[in-house]
Amino acid sequence: MSYAKTLLLWFLMLWMGATTVWAEPFVQGGPIGSQTSDGYNALGPVVEQPIEFPHNRHAGDMKINCMYCHTYARRSNVSGIPRLDKCMGCHNLLPQVRDKPRIKKLFEYWDNKQPVPWKKVHDLPDFVRFNHERHIQRFYFQEKRPVREVCGYCHGDIASMTTARRVKALSMGWCVSCHEKDHLEKVGSSVTSHGPNDCWLCHK
Ligand code: HEC
Ligand code: HEC
Ligand code: HEC
Ligand code: HEC
Ligand code: HEC
Repeated sequence: MSYAKTLLLWFLMLWMGATTVWAEPFVQGGPIGSQTSDGYNALGPVVEQPIEFPHNRHAGDMKINCMYCHTYARRSNVSGIPRLDKCMGCHNLLPQVRDKPRIKKLFEYWDNKQPVPWKKVHDLPDFVRFNHERHIQRFYFQEKRPVREVCGYCHGDIASMTTARRVKALSMGWCVSCHEKDHLEKVGSSVTSHGPNDCWLCHK
């Protein structure tokens, strides 16, 4: 990204309030996804989206924090996909990409007051219970691992992807193999514990 663009972005971020965009520096703590040495990183099927959203430019080049857009990850089961008004907060002020085909489409949805019908990329069977909050609280807030690495345990390095793809198995054996490992309870402590293995915690 050019210097001018970086400046503009910083301006936007300040303007939107430092409390909403966290431009957290991404400390590279270790290989992304290393917590589960599953040897699994075959790219899953490409899901055709209404607009191809470039994570590599937003979360990669611009380093926008994952949780600025996926705001529920730290406090609920789901992470959530951002609403259109979050995109418009920036794109209304970005004449330089206004005429790009994907941005024109974005404005069409906005002008028609329609949400973008994003499709699911990661989708566990309905009988599985999954909880983002517990994992984010543990690995990000307690162990203080960088956010990009933490999301990467289960999603791979989304910040380098041009379209979000599934790269992890997300099978029962795969989840359980991480739960069986010793995980630090918090940074600076040597106390470790495991994830749960009770059937009912992962199944309804
Ligand atoms: C500017 C907003 C924005 C930022 C920043 C962002 N995302 Fe996203 N994310 C989206 C949108 C929009 C989608 C839906 C389109 C898609 O799936 O490609 C999405 C989809 C995803 C998906 C797929 C969801 C599914 O259906 O399974 C994952 C996983 C994801 N993001 C993780 C991340 C991670 C990890 C980061 C940080 C490295 C991040 N995102 C940063 C906007 C964002
Ligand atoms: C913090 C500001 C910011 C937010 C929030 C944001 N964008 Fe962007 N987006 C940008 C900037 C800046 C560019 C141009 C980046 C570049 O030139 O590499 C861009 C580029 C894009 C592009 C590529 C355009 C092209 O073809 O060149 C798409 C598509 C896009 N954004 C979609 C979205 C969507 C969808 C959302 C909401 C989920 C969103 N953006 C939220 C700042 C933002
Ligand atoms: C321990 C594994 C794990 C971690 C860590 C994790 N996710 Fe997920 N994520 C999943 C699973 C599994 C699904 C699919 C859930 C389903 O289908 O019920 C998912 C789904 C999603 C989705 C789709 C919408 C939703 O909430 O269901 C988004 C977006 C997403 N994750 C973003 C993130 C972001 C951002 C982070 C880091 C802040 C993150 N995830 C960390 C496992 C994880
Ligand atoms: C990176 C390692 C890791 C991966 C991968 C992982 N987990 Fe976990 N999980 C943990 C740890 C550690 C905890 C305990 C968190 C805490 O409470 O401190 C946990 C907690 C949970 C809980 C919370 C149970 C409760 O007490 O409410 C559920 C449910 C869960 N995991 C399901 C899953 C599922 C389903 C998958 C696979 C899609 C998965 N996890 C993948 C490490 C992992
Ligand atoms: C850490 C979370 C977790 C725990 C603990 C767990 N499961 Fe699962 N289980 C899953 C996930 C995720 C799937 C979905 C796998 C898929 O989509 O391929 C699954 C799938 C299943 C299936 C469907 C068949 C299959 O193998 O795909 C059965 C039956 C099942 N689990 C039974 C159990 C029983 C019985 C226990 C307790 C001994 C248990 N599970 C404990 C996460 C878990």
